[in-house]
Amino acid sequence: MNKKFLHIILTAAVSLLGINALQAQTKLTIQVDKPGIEISPTMWGIFFEDINFAADGGLYAEMVKNRSFEFADPLMGWDLKEVNGGKGNILVVNRNLLNTGNQRYADINLENNKGTFEFINEGFRGMGFKSGEDYNLSMMAKVGTGNINLQIQAVNEAGAVIAQTAVEPFTKDWKTLTAKLKCTQNAAKGSLKLIFTGTGRVQVDMISLFPENTFKHRKNGLRADLAQKLADLHPGFMRFPGGCIVEGRDLANRYQWKKTVGNVSDRQLIINRWNTEFSYRSAPDYFQSFGLGFFDYFQLCEDIGAAPLPILNCGMACQFNSGEVISINQLDPFIQDALDLIEFANGGLNTKWGRLRADMGHPAPFNLKTIGIGNEQWGEQYLERYKLFAAAIHNKHPEVAMVTSAGPFSGGELFDYLNKALRAENAGLIDEHYYAPPEWFLRNANRYDKYSRDKTKIFAGEYAAHIKDDAQKDKHAESHNTWWAALCEAAFMTGLERNADVVNMASYAPLLAHVDAWQWRPDLIWFDNLRSVATPNYYVQQAFSANKGSEVVPVTDNGKALTGQDSLYSSSTIDRENGKLIIKVVNTSLTAKQVSFDLQGATVSGKDMQWMQLSDKDKLAFNSVDNPDAIKPVIRSVKWVANKPVNIEPLSVNVITLTLRKTK
Ligand code: AHR
Repeated sequence: MNKKFLHIILTAAVSLLGINALQAQTKLTIQVDKPGIEISPTMWGIFFEDINFAADGGLYAEMVKNRSFEFADPLMGWDLKEVNGGKGNILVVNRNLLNTGNQRYADINLENNKGTFEFINEGFRGMGFKSGEDYNLSMMAKVGTGNINLQIQAVNEAGAVIAQTAVEPFTKDWKTLTAKLKCTQNAAKGSLKLIFTGTGRVQVDMISLFPENTFKHRKNGLRADLAQKLADLHPGFMRFPGGCIVEGRDLANRYQWKKTVGNVSDRQLIINRWNTEFSYRSAPDYFQSFGLGFFDYFQLCEDIGAAPLPILNCGMACQFNSGEVISINQLDPFIQDALDLIEFANGGLNTKWGRLRADMGHPAPFNLKTIGIGNEQWGEQYLERYKLFAAAIHNKHPEVAMVTSAGPFSGGELFDYLNKALRAENAGLIDEHYYAPPEWFLRNANRYDKYSRDKTKIFAGEYAAHIKDDAQKDKHAESHNTWWAALCEAAFMTGLERNADVVNMASYAPLLAHVDAWQWRPDLIWFDNLRSVATPNYYVQQAFSANKGSEVVPVTDNGKALTGQDSLYSSSTIDRENGKLIIKVVNTSLTAKQVSFDLQGATVSGKDMQWMQLSDKDKLAFNSVDNPDAIKPVIRSVKWVANKPVNIEPLSVNVITLTLRKTK
């Protein structure tokens, strides 16, 4: 028999048997009896930034855009209509120094009794209404002169009324009026109509509409589906509020947490830096109302079981933009903001900021343990400022750890400078960022194997695999969240997990993006006004965070960590409390692989292993709000036979969980 013929017969035989015996097998040795590295409870977390309409128009469930007329164009988002002979006009009035957070209100003048005068809000690229659900309107109002009535309506994109009700009569003094809309139909791009009849003048402000059904049913709270998706990631921490938003394009535009707490109507709105950042994705209607402020972030952390990780401005604006810095002798108020934030989060009720937290509804401390100084800062200017922050925080709050910047790049001169200098300062956690092609993540699966094991730890604070822009041209907004990108991130994450003694925290970025209003992609979760979708990258994050374990156990292939040999990547942990062994295997090749596991120092109890698999044959596959389940985890039980090879599908992420027999 010639060789070629023999090969064909053998191939046919083994494919009939369902395994490819011609293929090399990888035999992984798992030293279950050698757990060493503890995995920090904060290992896998989330990064929240108000980019892509993540806060206003996203997680913050407010449906009215420009509710208090504070946008640069005071009537942006609002439309006026005179219907059936009605006549009226609107004057935007500035209270000036009387109220710095909420300067403007609308003074509506109704000139005749004939028809109606309508004031319509378009929402954030439309308003999403759900049939059968309630929506709560509130507005500050007072009547000047005359006799005026107000009806409100929710209308769908075709203008049909899907909910309506009357609003209680106006009073002579400012009063918050409320009303409830019960919707009879769905609308993805609806709007809110205020319909005035009568003659006279009425003043209105803070016109607000929230779904009744918010996350944890908090009044005027968070969009339930989005917050639930965050909770389902089981994040160990939540970093907020960014990102570059912390820095601002200039210092005036920086994030100032004190302006985001207290009475919602007094929070001073500013332009969102992503409004103007990218000319090809400009968003002239993007502002920060701070309805979602620092109290709300802390509360969300508590609700989803994540440790809070606020990042503060360190006296430097974005160095890609103005690069403006505050002079060293003017830095004290910035440092004081950090100290006051610790007091706001943890302080007693006898302290100024602890009292405010209690007044806002949370007397118990928020248990803040870590704070970030600056975002993507670099150079000597950063080091100088960081040292002053560090000294003040260590001095007053030695219990609070600090995250420091490594700059925006994963290597190079700027990175090396800070990496060396911050380690010399005994910095607690260095925040590394990498937005890079998918293949970078494969090449860097061993990045931390070689890192120094000194006291300074790594926070992989922002990362995502970015495909070339034209690769998915003209497809859905969500199309850059490809399966290939997610798969390469998973391969890289086995390296983070293996090196959990070096990497204590990691978060994908950015988190949220509105399909009609994004500036940056890829992102972890996409949404429109009614729906949201978990990307393949989301499921990869979830695979690691929900299967974290408590200690790393070594996995080796011929004595070496599996970091791409035969396109395979692996890491393993044990969950001591539940007696589980968790093995992660990523296959980045187009062919299936045979992998066996030699468990050392442990035996498996029970006959089955639980096998969670993510896979797709198409590297460019993605999930979208229209097709949310293209890639999703499949969980099955598979018979466990010691040392018997298992089939690892092409382009797949696998989490295999085994129950270990108790040892005495
Ligand atoms: O995640 C988007 C941006 O990327 C962040 O704001 C910034 O820190 C980084 O450059």
